[in-house]
Amino acid sequence: VSLQAFNTFGLAARARHYLRVTSAGQLDQLASDARAQGLPRFVLGGGSNVLLTKDVEALVLHMAIEGRDVLGEQDGKVLVRAGAGENWHAFVDYTLAQGLGGLENLSLIPGTVGAAPIQNIGAYGLEIKDVFHSLTVFDLARGERRTLNGADCRFGYRDSLFKHPDGAGLVVLDVTFALPRAWQPNLRYAELAQAVEAAGVQAPTPRQVSDTVIAIRRRKLPDPLEIGNAGSFFKNPVVPGAQCRALLERFPALVHHAQLDGSEKLAAGWLIDQCGWKGKNLGAAGVYPKQALVLVNNGGATGQEVMALARAIQQDVRARFGVELEPEPVFV
Ligand code: EPU
Repeated sequence: VSLQAFNTFGLAARARHYLRVTSAGQLDQLASDARAQGLPRFVLGGGSNVLLTKDVEALVLHMAIEGRDVLGEQDGKVLVRAGAGENWHAFVDYTLAQGLGGLENLSLIPGTVGAAPIQNIGAYGLEIKDVFHSLTVFDLARGERRTLNGADCRFGYRDSLFKHPDGAGLVVLDVTFALPRAWQPNLRYAELAQAVEAAGVQAPTPRQVSDTVIAIRRRKLPDPLEIGNAGSFFKNPVVPGAQCRALLERFPALVHHAQLDGSEKLAAGWLIDQCGWKGKNLGAAGVYPKQALVLVNNGGATGQEVMALARAIQQDVRARFGVELEPEPVFV
């Protein structure tokens, strides 16, 4: 099965074994399926955070479980659940149509609901963990379903239990969010606050905040349907405060944000931009001209080419700033 249409980079890798999963029951049956015995498994959602560097030998479980429900109210929060295969943005849109705010800052993020907790998706001052209630997983090793709460999921910046070895055999089936009944706009991210103000809106509705986020994203981020990409290709590196101060002496314009523990988060896009990579190409892989943090497939790129470009960027940033850039997508 070709995975080209199933990864937003549009890379032409194939899966030797493939199963489209539309119900949890299919995962139950896997345990007793002789043909699936002994095969490693690879869980694929919307394919917006993977770099397929070659054909996949594992059994690809392509999560397509549907369903969206408002479950009811609990402690001033409205619980809303969606199946892992639901498109993330369509789900955000659905909650807004129900009159529910809380997810609007995460509008237009590519991918599925089931993939959202894996890297604790975040944008414009909000992360999944802030509006998370619980999720259901299927444990492939034990062949059973379990419910996990936020603490179980060990959310961090673009990180969770599911990115670590002890979470590797867990397949997300559905996710439940706790949305505030008494909604307040979250305008902590300066760029978003400015854009809302520039639109002349006094007390924005969730829908207006969503529209503003969509406009900002469309300005700087490529649409995967037009130009293959996986969003930010690197995480924003977190460095000790002392290292940041030393860097500031040499590079006064360095973009940095203080963290609660005294460390500093640097803008990887700024570092890459300073190294002159913005708009540059290496083969068919390139750096998006409007946002240096996004690597793109200019047409016909291979995963190897994207990886070579990523390595060259990491090397330059290391040589110039002494900072390590860690890729955000999962390399397969
Ligand atoms: N910058 C540059 N040159 C560039 C890109 C950025 O100088 O080419 C500077 C900007 O001027 C700004 C700073 O870097 O001062 C930060 O840029 P921006 O606000 O665009 O955000 P980001 O750090 O590039 C992060 C997330 C995005 C998220 C936005 C908004 C990561 C790795 N990326 O990007 O998430 O949408 O903030 O919250 O944390 C994603 O993960 O795929 C993603 C798009």
